[in-house]
This record gives sequence, structure tokens and C-alpha cells, in this order.
Amino acid sequence: MSDVFPVNDYGPLMPGLVMAGVAIFHVFLAQFAVGGGMLLCYFQWLAMTKREVHAQRFVEGYFKLLVLISFVVGALTGVGIWFTAIQISPATIGSMVDNFHWLWATEWTFFCLEIVAGYCFYRYHERLTDRAAMTLLAIYALASWVSLFVINGILSWQLTPGRWLETHNVFDGFFNPSFWPSLLFRTVVAMTLAALAACVVINLMNSIDRDAKRALINRAAHLLVPMVLMPVLGVWFLAVMPADSRSWVLGGSPAMMLFLNISIGSSLAIGGYALLGMVMQRLYINGATASLLLLLAFGATAGGEFVREGSRKPYSIRQVLYSNAIKPDEVARLREVGCTTNDPYPLRQADQFPNDQVRLGARVFRRQCSVCHTVQGTNAVAELTGAWDANQMRMNFAKLQHTKAFMPPFAGSAVELESLVQFIDWSSARRPDSWPASDDPATVAQIQNWLDEAGTAPGDFEQNRNRHSARNP
Ligand code: HEC
Repeated sequence: MSDVFPVNDYGPLMPGLVMAGVAIFHVFLAQFAVGGGMLLCYFQWLAMTKREVHAQRFVEGYFKLLVLISFVVGALTGVGIWFTAIQISPATIGSMVDNFHWLWATEWTFFCLEIVAGYCFYRYHERLTDRAAMTLLAIYALASWVSLFVINGILSWQLTPGRWLETHNVFDGFFNPSFWPSLLFRTVVAMTLAALAACVVINLMNSIDRDAKRALINRAAHLLVPMVLMPVLGVWFLAVMPADSRSWVLGGSPAMMLFLNISIGSSLAIGGYALLGMVMQRLYINGATASLLLLLAFGATAGGEFVREGSRKPYSIRQVLYSNAIKPDEVARLREVGCTTNDPYPLRQADQFPNDQVRLGARVFRRQCSVCHTVQGTNAVAELTGAWDANQMRMNFAKLQHTKAFMPPFAGSAVELESLVQFIDWSSARRPDSWPASDDPATVAQIQNWLDEAGTAPGDFEQNRNRHSARNP
């Protein structure tokens, strides 16, 4: 059976949310860095071919911002992502490293190349010929896009492992069904972010007049044109998504659908303004508007990433690993031996629990539920079960994957399930000092029946949606 890792407690925040927060911030900055490289190449070319008088000055100003953001904040959040991910799901990261170590190494090589090229440009651009400066910028842009290319393969594999499931071939996993739509989509996003940031920077350039600024802004707007592809790429991505994930985001999960709509709505607002106003009418856009558009773009990125991460539920790697680090093919065994028997980690403040059964329940919760739920904070089980009596909890936990198909099946013994019910009941009752243990064998036997009825296979969204087909498959 696979190893059990320690689980961190983030108080009222559920770990999945902590992960999403760090990831969203990092993705935004990293994609800005990728698009920034492309934008700089374009402006360097404009300067070299004397098409745009002030392009040179812009390149220098923009590069300073890019370096500051991508080298400092981008690198810090990049490390932050590893630091968060190894706490939240060591099993997921472990599997990603196991399967793709050469690709990670490749990604790091290109990241180093990006840093070196960027640093050389930053330090020496005043002494360089135009051609040499262009070469450095091109290396910078290409290297940062290649690191996106590599990371994208690994991340998209988590959602759509595709043929890899049978072959375990690295390249089947890497060039998986959602590889191309998500790579192209992210590239368009990167160009959009870079162009919007450019509009902010241009507005901050005090040494040039408004007409000069307008000219630069009109150039930067060229990088917004690929946004017209977004709807097509978005539909392509939805089309290759697994059917159940697609049904979560298209209505099965209200939160997910809301985020998807926020993302689409903000993208449409930016796209409409960019294409109609900036590209076709060549409008001037001031610093405040540009900042507002950038903020909207942050909202769109955040919504999109949330949906992409969330729609994988109940898996962190589809069909390979559930979000709570239990493997689908381990469930049946854990039902027999229990999920806490090979968990060596002590409970924090164990003396605050009223009895051993509740202590056991807390450990079951920690192992199986805590990645997506807290007891009383975000997505709190105490509230979700608020109106249920103990029997209803027993049945719905035993049939967890049918209660909501984006939860994994319960992977522990009937005795553990009863202790979980007691733990949640006790928590809902505001953790009184004394609590009677429940030890009726008939209760455990009933839970066992429900567990057997539920089976150990993952839930099926289609079946769960339609009560009749669930009864008569
Ligand atoms: C992969 C993430 C995930 C895991 C693991 C998970 N849940 Fe959930 N659970 C969810 C989500 C998402 C919801 C929907 C919340 C909502 O509707 O607001 C949910 C809903 C629920 C509900 C309410 C169901 C309803 O019909 O209203 C209960 C109760 C619940 N979970 C209990 C548990 C318990 C107990 C465990 C551990 C044995 C667990 N969950 C494990 C993600 C998860």
C-alpha cells in the first residue's frame, strides 16, 4: 500500500484552497513573463528597423519591470508552489516527479537559460549591438515559452492522462489530449497579459508625449489580436475534457460554473475592449483603464485556474490518484484494514478529544476528507451535514461517491466510518468535554451494508444525475 504522508492543518482554509491561491498568483506572473519576452522581441525589432522612434526606450523600461516581476516575484512564488504542493499533496508531486523527472530537468534547464539571457540583457544592453540585444531577447522569449511548453504537458496530464494510462509511456502522458488546446490557450493569455502590462508601463513613461504614447500603445495592441482565438481554444479544451469534469463546470457544480462564467465574462470584456477599441479604432488607453483591464485579466486567470484545478475532482491525477492521496485500486483493501492503521502521525492536541472513538474519527477525517473540507471553516462538513441525523450521515458517507460524484468513495472500515460520524457530530455540538462512545454492533453492521451497496468504484456523474438509471443500470 502507498505511503501515508503527514497532513498540514491550515485552520479555516482547506488545503486545496491554499494551493489554488498560490498557484493562481504564480501562473499569472509566469504567463506575464512568457508574453513579456515575445512583446520585447517585437519592440526590439521595431526599434532596429526604425519603425517606431520610442521603441528602444520602451524596451528598457519594460524589461526592468519584467525582470523585477518574473525574476523576483515569479521565482519566489515558483518556489512557493513547490513548498505548498509538497505539503498538500506529496503523493501527487511524487508521482509527477517519478513519471516526468527528465522533463522537469529540461524545464529547469530552460528556466536557467531564461534567467541567464535575461540577466545578460539587463546588465549589458547598453554596450551591446542591436543584433546581440535582439539575440538575447529572442533566447529569453524562447526559453520562457519552452518552459511553459514543458510544464503544460505535465499539468495537462493530470486532467487527461489519455493513452498513458495503458502505455505508461512518457510521451503519451506528455502529449495528452488537452496538451495542445491548453498550450495554445495559455500562449494567447500570456500575450494578452504582456500587452496590457505594456499599456500600463507606457502610461508611466513621463519623457514622451501623448502621441508617442499612443503610437506605442497601438503597437502593443497587436499582441491582443490572438484573443480572437480564445473561444475556439476554449471550446476545444472543453471538448477534450473528460465528460464528468465537463459536466461539473457546465452546471454540475454551481461554484465551478460561477468561476467559469467569471472567467469567460472578464475575457469577453477585455477582448471586446481590446479588439474593438484598441485594435480597430486605435483608441488611446490611459493608465487607469489599462490597470483595470489587467485586474480583470487577473480575475479571468484566477477563475480559469480554479476551474481547471477543481474540475479534476475527485482526482488529483485522473484515474490514478484521488485528491486525498488514496489510489482507486487501494479502496477495497482499505475498507478491510482501515485507513488509519498505516498512518503513523499523532493527532495534534489529542487530549482535547473526549474519547478514543472521536480521536479515531479525527484521524479518518484528516486522511480522507481534510484536503477538500474543514470541520468548521471553508466547505465545512459540520455545516454541510447540518440538517442530517446520525443515520443519514452514516449512509451518505458510506455512499460518498454517490452522494456527490466529485468525492472519492469512502476508503476505510465501517468502524472508522462510525468514528467519523461521531467526530463530526461532536464537532457540530461545539466539542463538549464528554461524549458517549457509540458501540452498537447493529450500527456498524448497517454501515457495512451501505458500504457494500456503494461499492468501491468511483461515482458516475451520469448515473447519479438520473435516479432511474442508477437503480436499473
Ligand atoms: C475531492 C475533494 C473532496 C473530498 C476528498 C471529500 N469531499 Fe465532501 N464534498 C466536496 C465538494 C466539492 C462538495 C460540495 C460542496 C457544496 O456543495 O458546497 C462536497 C460535499 C460534501 C457533503 C455535502 C453533500 C450534500 O449532498 O450536500 C458532505 C456531507 C461531505 N462532502 C462529506 C465528506 C466527507 C465525510 C469526506 C471524507 C470521508 C469528504 N466529503 C471528502 C469535495 C470533497
